[in-house]
Amino acid sequence: ATHAKAIPLVHVSTDYVFDGSSSGAYTPDAPIGPTSVYGASKAAGEMAVRTANPRHAIVRTAWVVSPHRGNFVKTMLRLAGERETLAVVDDQRGCPTSAADLAAGLAQIALRLAEDPEAPTGTFHYVNAGVTTWHGFARAIVAGNARRGGREIPVSGIPTSAYPTPARRPANSELSTQSLTAAYGFMPRPWSEALDDILDRLVGPAHRQT
Ligand SMILES: NC(=O)c1ccc[n+]([C@@H]2O[C@H](COP(=O)([O-])OP(=O)(O)OC[C@H]3O[C@@H](n4cnc5c(N)ncnc54)[C@H](OP(=O)(O)O)[C@@H]3O)[C@@H](O)[C@H]2O)c1
Repeated sequence: ATHAKAIPLVHVSTDYVFDGSSSGAYTPDAPIGPTSVYGASKAAGEMAVRTANPRHAIVRTAWVVSPHRGNFVKTMLRLAGERETLAVVDDQRGCPTSAADLAAGLAQIALRLAEDPEAPTGTFHYVNAGVTTWHGFARAIVAGNARRGGREIPVSGIPTSAYPTPARRPANSELSTQSLTAAYGFMPRPWSEALDDILDRLVGPAHRQT
């Protein structure tokens, strides 16, 4: 329908289209290999978009967090208030991403596609800069919370096998944003900065370091 009406299409996809066995960052043209029903259905969604409308931007993202609704940051903050220790998976790596940063990026892409017939199309990755594990991310959340007066509790690392989830997550889902930078000039900021903004909203400003 969008193609018939000459409307460009922006579609959000996921790191779960990859099998996670790569050791480095995935570029958008890396072979996909979903290992879950979720990943397979998102890969099918990407194909449907490519077939239906050549003027598309498929934007894969990952590990999305925000001050709103349920997400990893909010879960860790809640657990930091409830528990004496936390154990978090340390053998899955990826790029935490602020929903607000992603939304701003998607809006800019949509605007460019709407206004400029030459705007780049294809598949891109948008994640915040830097790579960590869920354990590293949890530690940053707990430390950021403590800088704002919250409880500092120990966060230990555990293997994925000790924390089964319904959909298997890729072991490595580092996504390269290089082609998005080349096409649209975006330079996503580090995830740690984005996390500070979210904690400022959820917990309050950090106490001054003495
Ligand atoms: N969360 C992540 O880390 C992540 C990572 C990579 C990609 N993504 C992609 O980002 C997109 C959103 O994911 P999310 O995690 O934000 O999911 P979510 O929290 O489940 O939110 C989905 C939203 O879509 C709405 N929705 C669901 N089915 C709908 C329907 N049939 N018609 C209209 N609205 C519908 C829901 O509305 P209600 O609230 O009314 O149910 C909800 O607001 C998905 O395409 C996902 O694959 C997410």
